[in-house]
Amino acid sequence: MITEMIREKIGEGVFGRELYYFESVDSTNLAAKKFALDGAAEGSVVLAREQTSGTGRQGREWISEPGKDLACSLILRPAIDPARIGVLSLFASTGVAAALGAMTGMECRCKWPNDVLLGGKKVSGILSESILGGREVRAVVIGIGVNVNRDTFPPPIGDAATSLLLATGRPWEPGDVLARILRELESRYMFPASGRQDEACDAILNEWSERSAVLGREIVVEQGERQLRGRAVSVDADGSLVLETPQGVHHLAAGDVHIV
Ligand code: BTN
Repeated sequence: MITEMIREKIGEGVFGRELYYFESVDSTNLAAKKFALDGAAEGSVVLAREQTSGTGRQGREWISEPGKDLACSLILRPAIDPARIGVLSLFASTGVAAALGAMTGMECRCKWPNDVLLGGKKVSGILSESILGGREVRAVVIGIGVNVNRDTFPPPIGDAATSLLLATGRPWEPGDVLARILRELESRYMFPASGRQDEACDAILNEWSERSAVLGREIVVEQGERQLRGRAVSVDADGSLVLETPQGVHHLAAGDVHIV
């Protein structure tokens, strides 16, 4: 059974202890949100061989090759102020970058808000979605797509994307990639006990900043029709990007970044 093989790889951790596996599903994030509303435990993982409606940020389509790439979603129930929820996206990209960097031995960096770059090209995208109840965070679903064994990307993605296979010249087992990502995420996750969330967020912001592909760089941020060009200087306590432009300093909660 596939789930047993994957469970063996995941080992003893809390993340992945509950595993929901689909041969085909619309989107692991959609499925995870339903499981979360039905009470799924923190650390539950939804994994699919194929997604028929994989979704990226800003409602874009996310395509993964069935059986070759990794598409999964992790359910969290963090003790975190809703105002700082953006930090969890940075948490996710930091953990994924740590996992892929350690596995490949290559430089793996985070591009704000939640892309992971291997050798300067996008190898993974993350979609974090929260379920709020009143002023409380009931659950956060962290959707993770990794290009594992894909060897071509259609235009317009083309040159901007890579896979573990393309970057390293050898195939990888998606189950091993999942197991390593879950281990790296769990080792950084400090939100189950309330009261230490500031410390937890600061640790994430620090590590993300060290792994950042954008801080200190000249970038263009696209927000719909608006384009801002400037230097990325830091991230705020809520995960917003601080951009210095000739017109002033902007604190950006969303946008697409292009490194100049
Ligand atoms: C992005 O780069 O725009 C984010 C892509 C996130 C894709 C993953 S694949 C698993 C999970 N299920 C989805 O439908 N989306 C996320």
